[in-house]
Amino acid sequence: DKLFLDTADKDEIVKLSNFDWIKGVTTNPTLIRYVHKKRQSLIDEIEQEFDDKKLFVQVQGRSYKEMEEDFFYLLEVTSKTTGLKVPTTENGLELIQKIKNEHPERTVLATIVYSVEQGYLAGLVGCDWIAPYVNRMENQNINPYKIVQDIHQLYHVQNLSTKIMGASFKNQAQIRQTLLSGADTVTVPPIIIKSMMNNVLAEESLKVFQQHAQEEEI
Ligand code: E4P
Repeated sequence: DKLFLDTADKDEIVKLSNFDWIKGVTTNPTLIRYVHKKRQSLIDEIEQEFDDKKLFVQVQGRSYKEMEEDFFYLLEVTSKTTGLKVPTTENGLELIQKIKNEHPERTVLATIVYSVEQGYLAGLVGCDWIAPYVNRMENQNINPYKIVQDIHQLYHVQNLSTKIMGASFKNQAQIRQTLLSGADTVTVPPIIIKSMMNNVLAEESLKVFQQHAQEEEI
């Protein structure tokens, strides 16, 4: 499936969204803090930019009550096509169940997934997507690729339609391995997307071709 951009940087979003293979954008409170913007103004700005691309915004709060309140708020201020990211915790799973029962038109992405069990439960409550955190798992000495493979297989044998969006990446190799482990898509920071497009060796070869082309013209 097409890729997502993992950023709250509007300039990068506008620039990279020209590519048809970018399906949308995922944000979280940390990414929004990084660009020094209010969540609401960012939502408005990005929703205005997007016709056929999808924005995901994270529901805030830790207790069920806090999360539910923030969900009601987001329901008011976001477009129907904007997806909701919900933490895969006991309270988050309860909220996801509510959203899926009462607002089935809203796309839900279960986030901060570190285990097969979280992936399983998110699948059982009918989540559209789950986001396993690849780099953060590696930092904890958990093999993220085994987790992604197992969730992929579990969804298959249990006939669950939830899709896997690999998240939390620091380099290209993590993305490649995640996709080869069965993730349906990945959400990638712009800096890594750029390193994927601008291969250093290809740039070197291009430089030589360009030199030769200019010499020929002389
Ligand atoms: C995913 O949806 C998250 O926004 C993100 O990938 C987390 O990545 P990090 O581990 O780099 O913070």
